[in-house]
Amino acid sequence: MKRLAVLASGKGSNLRAILETPNLGARVAVLLTDREEAGAREVARRFGVPDIFLPPADYPDRAAHEAAMLAAMEDFRPDLVVLAGYMRLVGPGFLNRYPGRIMNIHPSLLPAFPGLGAVEKALEYGVRVTGCTVHFVDEGLDTGPIILQRVVPVESGDTPESLRARIQAEEHRAYPEAIQLFSTGRLRIRGRRVEILGGGDSLD
Ligand code: GRF
Repeated sequence: MKRLAVLASGKGSNLRAILETPNLGARVAVLLTDREEAGAREVARRFGVPDIFLPPADYPDRAAHEAAMLAAMEDFRPDLVVLAGYMRLVGPGFLNRYPGRIMNIHPSLLPAFPGLGAVEKALEYGVRVTGCTVHFVDEGLDTGPIILQRVVPVESGDTPESLRARIQAEEHRAYPEAIQLFSTGRLRIRGRRVEILGGGDSLD
C-alpha cells in the first residue's frame, strides 16, 4: 500500500474522490494546506486523515514556507505527492526530494490553457472540446509529462460553472485512475512521455 501526501488549497472534491475510491493501492497519509478555510480540511477530517495547515504569512518567503511543508510531510513518508487544487508552484525543494513522484491535475487539455482560469479561457477561446489532464510535475507551470487526459465537449450555452462541473466529474475519475496506475507500478516516465505498462497506453 503506497502512502500519499495530498496538497490542496480549495474545496477538496478531488481529495474526496481519491478517498472514496476502492482498490486505489494507496492511502492518503496526510493533507497539507496553505489556506485555513480550505474545504479540503473538512473532507480530510471526515475521513480521519490528519490535516496540517501552514500559513504562508508565517514564513519570510516562498522557499521557507515550502521547506516547512516538506518537513511536515516527511513524518508521513509519502511515496507520492498529489497536488489537488494546490494554488502554489512547487519549487526545487519538492522536485529534488520527490523526483517523478509529484502529480497534478489541471482543468484543460494541456498544453492548451495552462495556469489560472483554464475553464474561462477555453470558453472564451471558443474551443469545441476541453477536459482535464493528470501530469507529473516539473519546474514549469503545468508543463510536466502527461499521464492521462479526459475530453469534455463544450456545449452551446455553457457557462464557466456548467463547464467546470462536467470537467470536475471527469477529474474525479481520472485522478484516482492515475494514482492507481502509479501505485501498482505501471507508470514509467521516458522523457516527455509517460508509458503505461500492461496496456491502456494510447502511445503504443
Ligand atoms: C480542480 O479543478 C483542478 O483541476 C484544479 O483545481 C481544482 C481543485 O478542485 N487544479 P477541488 O478542490 O479538488 O474541488
